[in-house]
Amino acid sequence: MTKRLIQALEGKTLTPPPFWLMRQAGRYLPEYMETRAKSKNFLNFCYSPDLAVEVTLQPLRRYSMDAAILFSDILVIPDALGQKVEFKVGEGPQLEPIRDQQGLEKLDFILDGFHQHLAPVYEILRRLTKEIPKETALIGFAGAPWTVATYMVEGKGSKNYEIVRGIALSDPNFFQRLIDILVEATSSYLIEQVRNGAEVLQLFDSWAGVLSENEFHRWVIEPNREIISRVKKVHPNIKFIGFPRGAGPLYVDFVKQTGVDGVSIDQSVPLEWARDFIQPLTTVQGNMDNLLLVAGGDEMEKQVRHIIDVLGKGPFIFNLGHGIVPQTPPENVARLAEIIHGYK
Ligand code: CP3
Repeated sequence: MTKRLIQALEGKTLTPPPFWLMRQAGRYLPEYMETRAKSKNFLNFCYSPDLAVEVTLQPLRRYSMDAAILFSDILVIPDALGQKVEFKVGEGPQLEPIRDQQGLEKLDFILDGFHQHLAPVYEILRRLTKEIPKETALIGFAGAPWTVATYMVEGKGSKNYEIVRGIALSDPNFFQRLIDILVEATSSYLIEQVRNGAEVLQLFDSWAGVLSENEFHRWVIEPNREIISRVKKVHPNIKFIGFPRGAGPLYVDFVKQTGVDGVSIDQSVPLEWARDFIQPLTTVQGNMDNLLLVAGGDEMEKQVRHIIDVLGKGPFIFNLGHGIVPQTPPENVARLAEIIHGYK
């Protein structure tokens, strides 16, 4: 029997819709905090198969979800390429910024060393294929090149990404080389993820929404398209979910031009518009406000039903518009699962 998440990505309409949540493993769960305390350094935590397998399974023990998502982070790619990456408590990620050709030359992209560095991720996937319930799909992922490049160039998270947007415009040759390296590394990484058991891949382009139309085509659509095409050459049946967060009307071009099997929409996308202009092209995933999951109550219940009323008559996967935040009460996630499962 084909897993429900995969059926939806093949274009089937399912009632109730399959569901999973971005960042479903994480700091809102007390058992995550307990496991997380066993490793001080967040990247080491991501590279510890025992710990990463454990936290991937935690949300599945509490809630019946249609997918497990590999526990890792998008910044393992710059780390595996040799850039210095650190996670500081309360400050988020910190990287030694790369802003010119000289900086690029310090990166070592030797495929063997790169995959050796990421070998623990492949082991985590192999173990998960044996440990997740048979009806649960295993999602692998990576950051899309633009979003990973924002961290590599800025050196940390940013509000408006002025440094990286500026460099992409003033030194497009340098920036194209960085994106090309990321396309090559990410394709190769995802091909290995599938070899080791990932059944669906999501590409997170969380900062796609800060780009203008031309830049969006060059730095979001084109690299996503190229990665999907390279991975599908090796694994023709793999399903891809794209997530160009904040793309607005450019979601249409993104879907038409990248070859995704599904697209995750953020909470700013109007439901009727998604139904009329996106769903005829591909499976839609989304898009409840992650802060409504914090608020909970009747308003959440009303909105969940409304989202499924509008999008549930076509191929659809229920999810949030962006990842679960740490202040989310776990019982609200339980209630959400109940509402979705009870939907008729
Ligand atoms: O969805 C899942 O359950 C899988 C795990 C996952 C994590 N990060 C775990 C994590 C996934 C899919 C990601 C993706 C990711 N990482 C993105 C794209 C998705 C998005 O949310 O936009 C981005 C931009 C990152 C980069 C990143 N990693 C940041 C900015 C931070 C710090 C954020 C913060 O709130 O401090 C991280 C750390 C991180 N990644 C945590 C988790 C559970 C928290 C770290 C901890 O436990 O100490």
